[in-house]
Amino acid sequence: MEGLKILSTGYYPGEKVVTNTDFEGKIDTSDEWITTRTGIKRRHFSSHSSAYLAIEAARQAVRDIDLSKISLIICATMTPENATPSNACLVQEALGLQEQSIMCFDVNAACSGFVYALEIAKSLLVNKDQYALVIGSEQLSRIVDFTDRSTCILFGDGAGAVVAKKADGLFVSYNDASGTALPLVASFEKDDPYLHMQGQEVFKFATKVIVKSINEVLQRAQMTLDDVDYVVCHQANLRIIQYVYKKLKSSPDKFFTNLDEYGNTSAASIPMALAEMNEKGLLKEGMKIIVVGFGGGLTWGATLMEW
Ligand code: ACO
Repeated sequence: MEGLKILSTGYYPGEKVVTNTDFEGKIDTSDEWITTRTGIKRRHFSSHSSAYLAIEAARQAVRDIDLSKISLIICATMTPENATPSNACLVQEALGLQEQSIMCFDVNAACSGFVYALEIAKSLLVNKDQYALVIGSEQLSRIVDFTDRSTCILFGDGAGAVVAKKADGLFVSYNDASGTALPLVASFEKDDPYLHMQGQEVFKFATKVIVKSINEVLQRAQMTLDDVDYVVCHQANLRIIQYVYKKLKSSPDKFFTNLDEYGNTSAASIPMALAEMNEKGLLKEGMKIIVVGFGGGLTWGATLMEW
């Protein structure tokens, strides 16, 4: 089977750490409420744009990479620095690759963006000598209403990046969307530029589509969850992930989480998690992992791949 081999990873969280207690006194909330309802303890905010964060994560990911092989840069984001040029083009410029023949563009599928982008990268890479730089990057603090206690405590800023190439190996994907604005909207309206969310509706949607997406890729690969080493879900809420591993009769050890540190970083959360796992030496050649995204659109999807 033709798959996608991840050669390297990088990540860059926003530079300012904000704890749950930092919110106390500013809005009617508490560390105890946030921790028990979400599992989040801290998030990182950045005064820099999502393009800047993408560039920093990309620099790390390409540290030991032959840059001349990069033929594709995709940045998944719902908070791009500009309408144009794309974050991906700004990464190309920052890496000094302007003269190289590279297709560069951003993808907006909200928190499913990175999973969609992996699928796009696989379909656009022509041969095994070409590399794709696939990034997820968000500056969500820009679109969060800091007077709305039900959303402002959830989100963080950061970016994660991977360099990947085509290779023989497992790559089974399932991506879907349902074209419904509610329960999660962030518009470009000048009078209301903020993200709005019906939390309980998103919770129900998320638990349903994560289980469905995992089962779908397992069925397509004719495998069971026992054959899989790690599941990396979009890091939205610990209770969502707990629901999923209980429903699938699996264990917490298989479901990597780092949302306690970073909160929900939308399209950045999965590549940040992969980069952190890689840094910790958790990912070994040949391991099977599932990445699962879900978010605004509504969009969702999963990929089962070999590390
Ligand atoms: N501190 C204290 N109380 C709060 C806070 C807060 N930060 N936020 C809400 N509350 C209150 C509410 O006002 C409500 O009070 P009331 O009973 O007096 O009306 C009460 O807590 C319960 O509110 P619920 O919304 O029912 O709380 P819930 O247990 O559902 O938790 C949460 C809310 C954490 C948002 C949860 O619904 C959730 O995680 N949903 C999924 C969110 C998600 O995954 N979003 C991201 C996916 S897509 C993307 O990433 C862009």
